[in-house]
Amino acid sequence: MRRIAVLTSGGDAPGMNAAIRAVVRQVAAVGGEAFGVQQGFRGLLAGQIVPLGPRDVGGIMQLAGTVLGSSRSDDFRRPDGAARAIAALAAHGIDGLVVIGGSGSQNGSYVLASAGYPVVGVASTIDNDLVGSDITLGVDSALNVGLEALDRLRVTASSHNRAALVEVMGRQCGYLALQLGITGGAEAIVIPEAEIEPAEVAEILQRAFDRGKAHAIVVVAEGAQNNAARMVPFFRLNRQRFGFELRATILGHVQRGGTPTHFDRLLGTRLGTTAVDCLARGEAGVLVGLGGKDVVATPLAEVVGRTKPLDLSLLEMARILAQ
Ligand code: F6P
Repeated sequence: MRRIAVLTSGGDAPGMNAAIRAVVRQVAAVGGEAFGVQQGFRGLLAGQIVPLGPRDVGGIMQLAGTVLGSSRSDDFRRPDGAARAIAALAAHGIDGLVVIGGSGSQNGSYVLASAGYPVVGVASTIDNDLVGSDITLGVDSALNVGLEALDRLRVTASSHNRAALVEVMGRQCGYLALQLGITGGAEAIVIPEAEIEPAEVAEILQRAFDRGKAHAIVVVAEGAQNNAARMVPFFRLNRQRFGFELRATILGHVQRGGTPTHFDRLLGTRLGTTAVDCLARGEAGVLVGLGGKDVVATPLAEVVGRTKPLDLSLLEMARILAQ
């Protein structure tokens, strides 16, 4: 395999650029030629494919986002999407593809792999919901951005003896909220995997003030039924019943734009090089991710349509430690 292309797809994640750099330079190291596909699967269908040499990816590792651009492509999901994508790759003489992205993107990888095209996925999403990687690319950076925000919110909440509600991303997965709730010392954590009703959250926060805390923090996952959109009106409506005020902050995309941490730069580098090695030795149709301390390859067939379960015992630990 000589000509390998790389694309980034779905939500951008800090560390994607480290993975792009690693793919391009590893392709050169094994004697091949690298290509970048701009704007994910949408750009692939449009033939937005450019050659990338080792010097073209200099100085990108420390940048958040993706220098290739990304997209969520409805076009690719059409019945002829895979055939059109393979034709676009063939038109450039490309014989292997690395797809850096999360679950939706790896569904795309699987569609291409099932059509017989050599593709390797790199597990990348801040949501950490992808089977095949204990930690996905971008999670560590997103957590650190979230943690800094939580620390700051605690300061101002304490000054005013207020409650702070912080909503974090994660789609239908509560991983980010759970982790941030623990390390941010939240009094309550609301995630789709373990919902708590607003009234119960209010009681937990009230008890925290009763114990003498100057603040009370609840971290909610955007995918929870009882997310900020549901909680905020409840607290507004019942303000008189509680002895405290609540302010809400939705972190949203702020979490995606943080400078990639050391962890994510290293992870992107390891996953990118391994993806190329897999293609070079003819091991395609897999997702590369982190298994323990090692980079592991999991067949895409075992990845798609599944969601990595959360360790819910951590919720109980968080509850005990928030006393
Ligand atoms: O999958 C990553 C993610 O950031 C989710 O946490 C979030 O729900 C979604 O992407 C937001 O997508 P978009 O950037 O398309 O609004």
